[in-house]
Amino acid sequence: MTIALDSVLHDAALLVTCGPGGVGKTTTAAALALAAADAGRRVIVVTVDPARRLADTLGIDGSARSHDPSEVIGATTNPNGSLWALMLDAESTFDRMITDRAGDEQRAKAILANPIYRSIAGSLGGAQEYMAIERLHQLWSSGEFDLIVIDTPPSRHAIDLLGAPDRLVTFFSHPVYRILTMPGRSFARVTNAGSATFLWAVRKLAGPKVVEDIIEFFRSLSSMEAGLRQRAAEAAALLRGPDTAFVLVSSPRAEAIDEATHLAEALLAGKFPLRATVVNLVHPTPLAIDAPIPAHLEPGPLADQFELHRELTELVADESREMARLDEVGGGVPIIDVPLLDDVQDLAGLRAVGEHLLRPTTSA
Ligand SMILES: Nc1ncnc2c1ncn2[C@@H]1O[C@H](COP(=O)(O)OP(=O)(O)O)[C@@H](O)[C@H]1O
Ligand SMILES: [Mg+2]
Repeated sequence: MTIALDSVLHDAALLVTCGPGGVGKTTTAAALALAAADAGRRVIVVTVDPARRLADTLGIDGSARSHDPSEVIGATTNPNGSLWALMLDAESTFDRMITDRAGDEQRAKAILANPIYRSIAGSLGGAQEYMAIERLHQLWSSGEFDLIVIDTPPSRHAIDLLGAPDRLVTFFSHPVYRILTMPGRSFARVTNAGSATFLWAVRKLAGPKVVEDIIEFFRSLSSMEAGLRQRAAEAAALLRGPDTAFVLVSSPRAEAIDEATHLAEALLAGKFPLRATVVNLVHPTPLAIDAPIPAHLEPGPLADQFELHRELTELVADESREMARLDEVGGGVPIIDVPLLDDVQDLAGLRAVGEHLLRPTTSA
């Protein structure tokens, strides 16, 4: 009997949960973070989209959406342990960078509101994901935490997020970015017809002043290029490092398992250290009915009960078939199942989830 996540909880420095939407990634991240804090570690859980009451539990409800970690007071009674939380707002990280660099507030506002900026920012592939990775790197370098638990957005975006450091190259080689950051003179001598048309359209739509502001912003971004590249390389190494553990979360539903299977393959192909798979929201096996089931039952409550029992038994059989499918591609990592529980959004609920996650299993 081993506890699959035991060493992860005590030794890992970075734990990433990923998987399809709505399967319990955020819950799993918070439950593991709390368990590690209870074990005496200084832990931060970085989450993207906590359910409302979970956000309250972690003290990160929208109103006080802060960019700094906040401690979850009273989360653990272990005097050595502490739990911190941070809400990562991937959507606005790029905008925040503008605000930080634009100089004055009014100028930042003008850039942010500009439709041209919006479309450029949207087309810089990987920029937002990169900013999330950048944040992770900051937390990592601060040395303030023994363990950083990162919760990711649903699977397709998670792959974007993980690929972000590697894709920074695409970001900086984007043609629009290249044109905008050309030194002044050559900028005036843009010969490429497509680029010239683009700039003409931008000027016409946005007015010269706004264009200059945007160009200046991208130029200032380019002055950070070398530093960003270096950090991207470090982040890419960090995500594959010996102290990093990926935990794939799924539900036992067929569609979720399909997605999780793809993600497991992508993780293994990208050499990300997948350490366990969690199948959450599993229905408990109904007790077997000892008595012989009557062949004919009059419609009524008893017949309904038998029918419900039959359906549940079938559902549970389906679920374990789906879990077996995930096992086939999981690269031999342990699969931990967590049942559907009553309420998992307060500390007691998270601890209940944690108990299941850290239950000894014969596999693994
Ligand atoms: N084991 C469980 N039992 C009951 N409810 C759960 C369980 N795990 C998660 N939930 C609930 O399911 C919803 C989705 O969970 P969440 O962790 O936000 O999923 P994700 O981050 O994958 O989108 C939340 O309301 C959460 O409280
Ligand atoms: Mg989530």
